[in-house]
Amino acid sequence: MNKYPRTEKYESKIIEENWMGPNPLQLLEELCTNMKLSSGMKVLDMGCGKGLTSIFLAKEFGVTVFANDLWIDPTENLERFRLAGVSDKVFPIHAEAHDLPYAKGFFDAAISIDSYHYYGADEIYFPCTFSKLVKSGGQFGIVCPGLMQEFKKGYPETHKTFWHEDMFSFHSADWWRNLWEKTEIADIITCYNIPDPKAIWYPWAHWSKEHLGFKDVEFLNADTENQITLFAMIAVKK
Ligand SMILES: C[S@@+](CC[C@H](N)C(=O)[O-])C[C@H]1O[C@@H](n2cnc3c(N)ncnc32)[C@H](O)[C@@H]1O
Repeated sequence: MNKYPRTEKYESKIIEENWMGPNPLQLLEELCTNMKLSSGMKVLDMGCGKGLTSIFLAKEFGVTVFANDLWIDPTENLERFRLAGVSDKVFPIHAEAHDLPYAKGFFDAAISIDSYHYYGADEIYFPCTFSKLVKSGGQFGIVCPGLMQEFKKGYPETHKTFWHEDMFSFHSADWWRNLWEKTEIADIITCYNIPDPKAIWYPWAHWSKEHLGFKDVEFLNADTENQITLFAMIAVKK
């Protein structure tokens, strides 16, 4: 049985034209199995990239989405939302994660796919910024690349050639759970490593090698001990 039936409905050509990492729709579908999203909710899609996940949220759950990103031009995203027929439900916003234009408690949920680790590994980001965006009883859901366990002696020798500075925010699921749990702002509903993460990551790795010259294939191959993963965390604001 296909694990991600909702994602199957979307053309792989469209996904491949717009993904910026391991299949964001599969990661979002995984996340949504543990979230409660329904028509009329306002959802923040943080680091939405080219907006695939924002389109998916609007189409699959009927929610209103604020598609927030830094690197991608919001006018380009608007065109994608028009083409997908969701421009009445998905609003493209250009904003940096520490300088967001939203009122406190505005959102019913805030999600982030393959983006939160760029800014959210900072100890104060969740308590001072991200948590404030969502109302009491609202949900948070993130999926990021991570580690099966914290490295005790630096990154493994086999990873050396492929390790970039921004990967130092890769952490274990327990590390992320503790980062949010200790703030006592939210109850963690679940925090886990997605099973068989490389089955999701390799298709992107091969595509990005061919089209962008990225080295994800070599990086994943070098991870002989399977220490690299993708984790999901969901929490509800108290
Ligand atoms: C690897 S891409 C993933 C994009 C998309 N979620 C996907 O999976 O295709 C990471 C995204 O995070 C966003 N991002 C990174 N740092 C950010 C920051 N400081 N503030 C807002 N967005 C940020 C980038 O603009 C980028 O689109």
